Amino acid sequence: MNSNKQLAIFIMGVSGVGKSTIGKLLADQLSIPFFDGDDYHPEANKKKMANGHPLNDEDRYDWLLNLNKLAKEQTCHNSCVIACSALKESYRNLLKNGIETNIKWVLLYGSFDQVLSRIKQRTGHFMPTSLLKSQFETLEKPIEALKINIRETPQNITTYIVNELQKKSEFGIIGLGVMGKSLARNLASNNFRLSMFNRHVPKIEEDVAKTFKNEFLELSAATAFDDLSAFVNSLQTPRKILLMVNAGKPVDAVIESLIPLLAEDDVIIDGGNSHYKKTQERIDLLANHKMHFIGAGVSGGEQGALKGPSIMPGGDADAYTLVQPYLETIAAKNKKNEPCCTYIGSGGSGHFIKMVHNGIEYVEMQLLAEVYFILKNTGKSPDEIATILESWSTETNSYLLEITINILRKKEGNGWLIDHILDTSGNKGTGNWTTIATAELGMPSTLIPASLFARYLSAFKEERIEISQVYTSENKELAIDERELLNAYHLARIVNHHQGFRLLSQASVAYDWHLNLSEIASIWTNGCIIRSTLMEALIDILKKDDNLLLNDTLVSQVKTLKPSLNTIVSQCILGDVPIPCLSEAVNFLNGYSTANSSANIIQAQRDYFGAHTYQRVDDMSGTFHHTNWEE
Ligand code: 6PG
Repeated sequence: MNSNKQLAIFIMGVSGVGKSTIGKLLADQLSIPFFDGDDYHPEANKKKMANGHPLNDEDRYDWLLNLNKLAKEQTCHNSCVIACSALKESYRNLLKNGIETNIKWVLLYGSFDQVLSRIKQRTGHFMPTSLLKSQFETLEKPIEALKINIRETPQNITTYIVNELQKKSEFGIIGLGVMGKSLARNLASNNFRLSMFNRHVPKIEEDVAKTFKNEFLELSAATAFDDLSAFVNSLQTPRKILLMVNAGKPVDAVIESLIPLLAEDDVIIDGGNSHYKKTQERIDLLANHKMHFIGAGVSGGEQGALKGPSIMPGGDADAYTLVQPYLETIAAKNKKNEPCCTYIGSGGSGHFIKMVHNGIEYVEMQLLAEVYFILKNTGKSPDEIATILESWSTETNSYLLEITINILRKKEGNGWLIDHILDTSGNKGTGNWTTIATAELGMPSTLIPASLFARYLSAFKEERIEISQVYTSENKELAIDERELLNAYHLARIVNHHQGFRLLSQASVAYDWHLNLSEIASIWTNGCIIRSTLMEALIDILKKDDNLLLNDTLVSQVKTLKPSLNTIVSQCILGDVPIPCLSEAVNFLNGYSTANSSANIIQAQRDYFGAHTYQRVDDMSGTFHHTNWEE
């Protein structure tokens, strides 16, 4: 076959649809071997069917294993065609086991009467017509199959299959910005036949896809388009199209122009940082057209996308099976060599967890910025700070720690580049969304807003300069213990992860997503921005406890580290050094571990001015009380 990947093409469907006829014709046309699945039935199965008894799943088990073995052997050196009814999804799972990316399903289908009349014309077949009904009942149509009605002639059907498989791409990507380009190269390097589209904007975006294709060797088999309908027609059905366009209106615009060009069962994957509520709306829109939409968070930046990102797909579970081989192949791998990509849940869950990933990311970044600032205030140079951070990596390593060390070491002339970078930080909005989401769900994920507002405060550069002249503080050099700083940093990270996973846990209940927190930690151990040794440890911890602050191992760590966090925060406050996330970590821990808090005053105030009522500690009946406070 004219493809760089060996395929096992399974021609499937109920008995009588013409699997062997089409299979042989197809194999001839492609010059590859043909195998009739029926020849691989154990004798007992053939006898059972000849006696008019349908096969059960147990009977079929060994048969399916035989065919899986055959497909595996064949795809080691060539493509092949196998005719096999493969009626149930569970059968197909056995057939494709271990060769998921080398399988193509072609479903031949027709009406019961159409197939019955064909079967009646047959001689010498061991399948009696009485079993046809049970076959129709058993058939679970695979969403991922190329579906062909048998009313066409065998020759036409074969030509159609050849055109689809040989001339068309198996995966499409729209939007060749930084992330889109890296993902396209990743897909092509994994031998997926790819169609790439980038819009044409005169003088601004011209021939982007073509130019890109010519730049990289791995893209030589890919096809490049700036015409959307030609791009769509270049894809095998059901189509799988990854959108890598800017979140917001551009996503809706592309979806709108795609819908009239697509067909039933086609899948659009949105790989951008879209809002999870918009993702749910888009799922509903596509469902109205019997099409599918997967909202997939993708983390890892340009390098991650190229070498293996962490991917967080959510949406319709069946539609996920269609795109699973592609996403899981290009994803990073965890320590057990499993893909850092797993089906997250229904609706906008994939984009929700990517949003929370970013919230955790904001805090992790802010904590490192605070550590840097504290050490800077002790009089250390960027190189000295880098050396200290490097010594921490044996105890608490993370991707963000590593890049911060590299950033601090980067020289410019005789000095350091970091000293020339303006202290106002930008953001693309995901921290803002996480802050709103946590508030909407009533969850006190207090570090995320603290990190977000630290960025917002940084943006008021001119005002800060003015205010700093009004409130000049005498230049006090901080004297802190580095070990205590490490302890404080480590504990604040535990609090950050505790809050992030509690937020996920609450969202899971509120939206009925059934999130598996341990699996989420696992796909965050590689490829993504918040990968760290702490995240690796959380895989097992989250299997037992979804409240990290109640986990035995972490409880003892928190107790040991807390005095250091108290000390560092106190020293910074006395030294006028801003540390919004470290101090919020102390406040959160103090508040969370206070059995009797000050909220009784709030309740009394609410009741005083607004008759909002309150509950009493000496009345456990749940009754709400009201007092006329000024009587
Ligand atoms: C990732 C990043 C990535 C990115 C965002 C948020 O996981 O690869 O989170 O999605 O950095 O653009 O960045 P800002 O809000 O900080 O701009």
